[in-house]
Amino acid sequence: MEQKRYGHFDDQHREYVITDPQTPWPWINYLGNEDFFSLISNTAGGYSFYKDAKFRRITRYRYNNVPMDNGGRYFYIKDGETVWNPGWKPCKTPLDFYECRHGMSYTRITGKKNGVEASVLFFVPLKKWCEVQKLTLKNESSETKSLKLFSFEEWCLWNAATDMENFQRNFSTGEVEIEGSTIYHKTEYRERRNHYAFYHVNAPIQGFDTDRETFVGLYNAFADPQAVMEGKPRNSHAHGWSPIASHYIEVTLKPGESKDFVFLLGYIENEQDEKFEAPQVINKKKAHALIAELDTTEKVDKAFAELCALWDNLLNIYKVKTGNDKLDRMVNIWNQYQCMVTFNFSRSASFFESGVGRGMGFRDSNQDLVGFVHQIPPRARQRIIDIASTQFPDGGCYHQYQPLTKRGNNDIGGGFNDDPCWLIFGTVAYIKETGDFSILDEMVPFDNQPGTEVTLFEHLKISMNHVIENLGPHLLPLIGRADWNDCLNLNCFSWDPNESFQTTENVSEGTKAESLMIAGLFVVTGKDYVALCKKLGKNDEAARMQQAVDAMIAAVKKDGWDGEWYLRAYDFYGRKIGSNENDEAKIFIESQGWCTMAEIGAEDGMVAKSLDSCKKYLECEHGMVLNNPAFSKYIYEYGEISSYPEGYKENAGIFCHNNPWVIIGETLAGRGNDAWAHYAKILPSYVEEKYQTLHKVEPYVNCQMVAGKDAFKPGEGKNSWLTGTAAWMWYTVSEFILGIKPDYDGIRIDPCLPETANDYTVNRKFRDAEYEITIHPNGAQKGVKSITLDGKPVEGTVIPYSAGKHVVEVTM
Ligand code: BGC
Ligand code: NOJ
Repeated sequence: MEQKRYGHFDDQHREYVITDPQTPWPWINYLGNEDFFSLISNTAGGYSFYKDAKFRRITRYRYNNVPMDNGGRYFYIKDGETVWNPGWKPCKTPLDFYECRHGMSYTRITGKKNGVEASVLFFVPLKKWCEVQKLTLKNESSETKSLKLFSFEEWCLWNAATDMENFQRNFSTGEVEIEGSTIYHKTEYRERRNHYAFYHVNAPIQGFDTDRETFVGLYNAFADPQAVMEGKPRNSHAHGWSPIASHYIEVTLKPGESKDFVFLLGYIENEQDEKFEAPQVINKKKAHALIAELDTTEKVDKAFAELCALWDNLLNIYKVKTGNDKLDRMVNIWNQYQCMVTFNFSRSASFFESGVGRGMGFRDSNQDLVGFVHQIPPRARQRIIDIASTQFPDGGCYHQYQPLTKRGNNDIGGGFNDDPCWLIFGTVAYIKETGDFSILDEMVPFDNQPGTEVTLFEHLKISMNHVIENLGPHLLPLIGRADWNDCLNLNCFSWDPNESFQTTENVSEGTKAESLMIAGLFVVTGKDYVALCKKLGKNDEAARMQQAVDAMIAAVKKDGWDGEWYLRAYDFYGRKIGSNENDEAKIFIESQGWCTMAEIGAEDGMVAKSLDSCKKYLECEHGMVLNNPAFSKYIYEYGEISSYPEGYKENAGIFCHNNPWVIIGETLAGRGNDAWAHYAKILPSYVEEKYQTLHKVEPYVNCQMVAGKDAFKPGEGKNSWLTGTAAWMWYTVSEFILGIKPDYDGIRIDPCLPETANDYTVNRKFRDAEYEITIHPNGAQKGVKSITLDGKPVEGTVIPYSAGKHVVEVTM
């Protein structure tokens, strides 16, 4: 059945255009690239924060609200008796026209009603701590219009967690100041905070409100605030309760006339001794300066042009032309964009991640790096140092850290035994992209303790050692609290529903729980580490680790193979998991992915059999599920994985994140047709075409999980945006399918394609060089026959790096 469509891609403008506000779920975008961030839905819902969605939440948001996505930055337009919003919500007055264009770090929402067009451009200017909302009102009718315009933002009392729960205190702390057209939010500034926020408009106002109850009314809602409905601001001054910011402006527009208003939501920090300009009065100097930088349409347009130029540059680093629009738009635009977003937020703030739960994940952020490192390498470099600084001297590490403090999170702690390996994965990607080996000499502390610094290289070494010092009875890696699969909790044994599987006891005494996923990860990253050591002339260290890698390969072949696929794990008691001998979950995807990427036993046919088993048992219409058959009951020895109903999340959901692992395995095995078939199934642009209603979530980015074949509604997506899928999809398509792979000494060319692939060209900026690489597949799935660089033949598959512009021709 043909599914309803809510929008379409506009590749020329790099936008997704939503034409119906009633999407099956809020379809959001992210604003801001470094310090100040916002989430914005297609109806202008969402919120803003500075650096950390938990500790510095600027505007309030209620997750899981009814109706969904309630609260945001709202403009109310009262035109006679009609009140409407350009983004349809919250009034839901039917519009004559609606459009939301989500672009690269900006969103433009346009609504029309009764001859008036209201268009709002939302973005965060580069290097500035504010969100710009440029509202353009246009009279398209033949009569003069007298409109009453109300803006609206609701302040969060900074800590998003306590804001949602500590009402006995919160309702007495709220404080604001009003000065001209600017409303300042200064709750807790009188004590320890050195920051405040403001909401400004670059026009005289005829009234305002700062107290929510006065503005909305105790028994009204955002859909019908009393002040707006009556067309009368109350000029309220908030003391405690819930402070808000609303400007009231009377606008007269002649036929054909249009007016711009620049609204600014800003964040300011002051030095301790410069906090006040008079007793109780905040020092507004920096706010005035920021406002002055953006107080005209021209200044705002210039700031917007700078933002667009940034994205022009970023998206010029890797560009492909295959003639397949669906592929090109994901590679050239949306996949790279999502990689920037996951790099910025890790798993902290989305419409599925509340921003108060998880900060930056150790393994998550390392994986995100491979999707981002080509974009802004210096930021990737800093990230690697930040992550490594949360490691412990024994190579273990904090599983998460807070972006504001960069300190490890004690609630979750450590003990996830895959974590250390990811540091090698991220660092190697950085060095291959940049050629910057100096990062390895950076002095990096343990657990952020000054005085404990050792080189980053030393951190990599102890990461590798952590695996070999924690082997189990089959000489496979002990799993610890969990490996990549946070829900495979083999040492936790919980019957208490008040315990979180993620933090409950991790019994290490006597455990035999081993992971084949970590085994494969160790072999892949171990080979990388060995190559790096050789490159550095550390031949003894290379030899030492090569032995450990060889031993791991031997252990997998001996005790990690089930006949047709790789086992998943051994449990606490040393019993097989992911084996034909099990009643349920006989096969898991993670170990197939990692052991095929590691090519373990390829010579004995293990890789091919494992990949075939993925097709046979895991694949379905929407992708490959995580395990098969799904668990139908809770298993005390396995933990959270078996807590999910069949087909969801880690219990046989399609975890998009690990589909690319198998796809890479396919490409290494030279099976281009299979690799492509798997890839296209979870490529958003293909899903967009067929399944907008079923899929529900944003069709322009990957989501973490799509309900699997055992679910009630297979194909339904959840957890959009913040997922390692972004980086893995990028890594897979850019390096393994299209085959352009950064290496220490140049770019390795090794595509793996479906046999129907046509000639294509990749423009790749790499360090100080620019390559135009044209590939002639000639029907081959794999295997480069010849390469020429600027007309001269190249030996092997690596184009040696040299600065400047180059033309490369590749024949397969
Ligand atoms: C989810 C995992 C997630 C973990 C940690 C679990 O409930 O299923 O996907 O990684 O929580 O937050
Ligand atoms: C989401 C987490 O962010 C990630 O770290 C984990 O690997 C996957 N879920 C699988 O459990």
